[in-house]
Amino acid sequence: MTERYIDRAYAARDPEEIREIYEGWAATYESDITAQGYATPERGAETLAQFMADKDAPILDMGCGTGLSGVALKAAGFTTIDGADTSAAMLQEAGKKSIYRNLLQVEPDEDLPFRAGNYAAITAIGVIGPGAAPISLFDALMHKLTKGGKLLFSLNDHAMVDSGTLGMIHEWTDCGAALLLSSEDGPHLPGMDLNATVYLIEKN
Ligand SMILES: C[S@@+](CC[C@H](N)C(=O)[O-])C[C@H]1O[C@@H](n2cnc3c(N)ncnc32)[C@H](O)[C@@H]1O
Repeated sequence: MTERYIDRAYAARDPEEIREIYEGWAATYESDITAQGYATPERGAETLAQFMADKDAPILDMGCGTGLSGVALKAAGFTTIDGADTSAAMLQEAGKKSIYRNLLQVEPDEDLPFRAGNYAAITAIGVIGPGAAPISLFDALMHKLTKGGKLLFSLNDHAMVDSGTLGMIHEWTDCGAALLLSSEDGPHLPGMDLNATVYLIEKN
């Protein structure tokens, strides 16, 4: 039996292997993941909407994939959304949705090509953890926010296994460099019995 992309992604750790998986998965990613009841985009977008009054402020959807997270952000009222991803094929699918102002391709482990403060909020929905970006992306994104900027991200059960993941978040919140506004566990891929915690952090 052919191994499912979803299982290959969760097993992969090397950034180039991960990129290659998403390049091949782009055409069928949405049908595969919606078949498992993918719930995190709506949960994340609704959380951000509760804490952000200005829905026209620019938002970056980091790891936008084919745009499911952008669709949820738009449905929650946000109007100015850029998308970024390491996979050109995923970005091509996202472009078909005509919901993003700009789409940019980024390189894993390289400096992110935009200035700190460009975005009032950055989202990383279904992006940090095994099968996608390392926790170092959390740190890189925090550095791209200025005071009051918000980072909305999810960590699924697989990501929680690595104790360094929560440690990186505490490095920001314990010293007061950032404030945890919300964290809520709930369904991620219910078809696979997988949960995720959705976090919203504000930079001080
Ligand atoms: C599970 S998908 C989530 C896509 C979208 N946010 C959603 O909710 O459907 C993970 C995405 O992260 C992207 N990705 C992997 N490593 C990344 C990195 N270092 N920086 C940005 N995006 C990355 C992948 O190409 C893929 O599109």
